[in-house]
Amino acid sequence: MDMVCNVAEVRARVAAWRRAGKTVALVPTMGNLHAGHMSLVRAAQREADVTVVSIFVNPTQFAPSEDFDAYPRTLEADAALLRANAADLLFAPSVDEMYPLGPNTTWVEVEQLGRYLCGANRPTHFRGVTTVVSKLFLIVAPDVAVFGEKDFQQLTILRRMTAELRFPIRIVGVPTWREADGLAFSSRNGYLTEAERERAPLIQQQLQQLKRAIADGERDYRALEDVMSAALAAQGFKVDYVSVADAETLAPATSEDRKLVIAAAAYLGKPRLIDNVTLDLT
Ligand code: PAJ
Repeated sequence: MDMVCNVAEVRARVAAWRRAGKTVALVPTMGNLHAGHMSLVRAAQREADVTVVSIFVNPTQFAPSEDFDAYPRTLEADAALLRANAADLLFAPSVDEMYPLGPNTTWVEVEQLGRYLCGANRPTHFRGVTTVVSKLFLIVAPDVAVFGEKDFQQLTILRRMTAELRFPIRIVGVPTWREADGLAFSSRNGYLTEAERERAPLIQQQLQQLKRAIADGERDYRALEDVMSAALAAQGFKVDYVSVADAETLAPATSEDRKLVIAAAAYLGKPRLIDNVTLDLT
C-alpha cells in the first residue's frame, strides 16, 4: 500500500485503476484508526476492486472551542494497520493541500437535517463535513463511499448530499463496531480515564433499554428521553442530547413515526461520546 499526499497524485492513481477496468471504493477518515474503521475497510473491499482510505483531520468541522489541535494524529500506526488490512492506497493530504487558498469560503451545506441532534449544539460542524467529503468525492471520484452508522446523522446527511448533488457514488452504511462491553469504538475513547472507561458502556445499555420500552408500547418519547438523560447524569455524564427521532428527517419523533433512531451524545470527562440504535415499528 502506498501513501500519497497530493491531489494530482491520487487522481493519477485512480485514473490508472479506471483504465484497468477496476472499481474504486473510498473510506474517508480522520485517522487514529481502530477496529471500527477496519470494518469499513472490509466493507469497501467487498464493494469494489480497490480501496482508497483518506486520513485528514478536517479543520472546518471543528468549532474553535473543540479539539482540532489535540485530535490524535497517529499516521505511522494508521498506515501500518491499513497495510495489515490490505488497503490499496492511503491519501493523507495536508491542510494546505485540501484548503489551498487559506481560510475556506466555498461551502456545501445540507439544510434541515443538520439542525437536529449533534447539529443543535455544533451549528457549523456538518457543513464542514459535507464540504470536505464533497472535495474528497471530487478528488478521488470513487464508485462507492463507505461510512459508519455510528455517526447516523452524518451518514443521513451525506446520503442526502450525494443524491441532491447527483454524485455518481453509491453510499454504503456499515453497522457500528463495538467493544465486548458494548462501547462503540471511537478515536476519542482514548481520552477516557480508566474509571470513565468502565462507565462508558452505560450509553449503549440505556439506548437498548429505551428501545425495549418503545418496542413494548411506550409512546411518550419526551418522557423516555428525560429518564435516560437523568440516568446518564446520575453516573457523571454531561448530557448533550437524548433524542427519539424520525430516522429519515431526524426531527423529534411523534407516535405516528414508524422508523426511529434513538440517538444520544454526552460528555464523560473530556470526550464527547455518541451512539445510537434504530427501531422499525412497521
Ligand atoms: P472519523 O470519526 O475518523 O470516522 C470515519 C468513519 O468511520 C465514519 O464513517 C464513522 O462513522 C466510522 N466509524 C467510526 N467509529 C466507528 C465504529 N465504531 N463502527 C463503525 N464505523 C465507525 O467521521 C469522520 O471521521 C469525519 O467526519 C469524516 C467523514 C472523515 C469527514 O471528515
